[in-house]
Amino acid sequence: MDYHSGWHLLQIPGPTNVPARVLAALAEPTIDHRGKTFADLAQEVHAGISQVAQASGTPILFPSSGTGAWEAALVNTLSPGDRVLMFETGHFATLWRDMALQWGLQVEFLSGDWRHGIDPAAVEAALRRDSDHRIRAVMAVHNETSTGICSPIPAVRRIMNQLAHPALLMVDTISSLGSIDYRHDEWEVDVMVGCSQKGLMVPPGIGINIVSEKAWRYAESSRLPKSYWNWQAMKTVGRSGFFPYTPPTNLLYGLREALRLILAEGLPHVFARHARLAEATRQAVSGWGLELLCANPKEYSNSLTAVILPPGYDTTAFCQMTAEAFNLSLGQGLGRLRGRVFRIGHLGDLNELMLLGALGGLETALKRAGIPCQPQGLPAAIGYLGRTSPSAS
Ligand SMILES: Cc1ncc(COP(=O)(O)O)c(C=O)c1O
Repeated sequence: MDYHSGWHLLQIPGPTNVPARVLAALAEPTIDHRGKTFADLAQEVHAGISQVAQASGTPILFPSSGTGAWEAALVNTLSPGDRVLMFETGHFATLWRDMALQWGLQVEFLSGDWRHGIDPAAVEAALRRDSDHRIRAVMAVHNETSTGICSPIPAVRRIMNQLAHPALLMVDTISSLGSIDYRHDEWEVDVMVGCSQKGLMVPPGIGINIVSEKAWRYAESSRLPKSYWNWQAMKTVGRSGFFPYTPPTNLLYGLREALRLILAEGLPHVFARHARLAEATRQAVSGWGLELLCANPKEYSNSLTAVILPPGYDTTAFCQMTAEAFNLSLGQGLGRLRGRVFRIGHLGDLNELMLLGALGGLETALKRAGIPCQPQGLPAAIGYLGRTSPSAS
């Protein structure tokens, strides 16, 4: 079929739905990136990102996907052979580890089962073993998009402080920024990695770092090669509004509008909305009698939910079916979860009825695919949303 009537339900965990006001902003005429209008645009975007990340430091924006911002975090702070501590929370943590290895870093990769987040006890043991402080960076994924598991970053920082460990704390917020409470300053994160296409509701194309004073000091002695990703060249953009090379002007228009929407809704309300839609989704999964991948309720992600299908059912084929039959895109299983889980994205520009449409589509698709489950998911989600009301607790 060449045409599917009606809306496409984009329920992957990013890229997410782009609000109409952001789409309109993206279509503004491109302007001179060396003029005052552009400088005002860049400065407003920088200020808005800092607010959403709850950070006082100035962000650095690259025309890139999130992977570029990962690379910028590494090459600006570290030197060949440096030791880093990382955590196997899932597919994206593994890809970041692979990148660190390709850059010649020595990675201590604490193993995980992809059903739990970072274990603070394991972090403490690893840092205690490192009594001569050879570990230069602790690198964590806040919300693992392949598993729907959110790791306790404040606990990691507490341990680092208790042990007076001088390593940098780098945090990937790619699927938490703008959806799940992330407190850059309070958690004393040194390098934040983010991007535009998830909670920030903008198409892919902007990678983000936020850098602490301490990380800037590391940057002065870092010896990994860099050119395009060099933070130094970006240092003054926040103040002057001018980039060292051609910026993605129209994406910045879109990002400014998206940040205005997020701040108009209010961060506490944005986080509460995500928490509520996430809980409604989990109620639906429980109503179907299916299993969540996340094994620890304290680590449930508010931006996506990964669901295990019974043995013998392939989730990749299931996701293809929901797209073709119902115009509903779900996230497939990634890495070693390929074929075993599907992921429901519930982040970004989403409300209750959009979610119920997706959950209703899913329930219908489960039935059509003959997957053994109870038809009680949609009623459970409706029941939860009906009993509770939105609040910014
Ligand atoms: C947690 C996380 N880190 C890193 C990435 C890589 O980002 P990108 O695909 O934008 O390069 C993703 C992508 O989904 C992600 O979810």
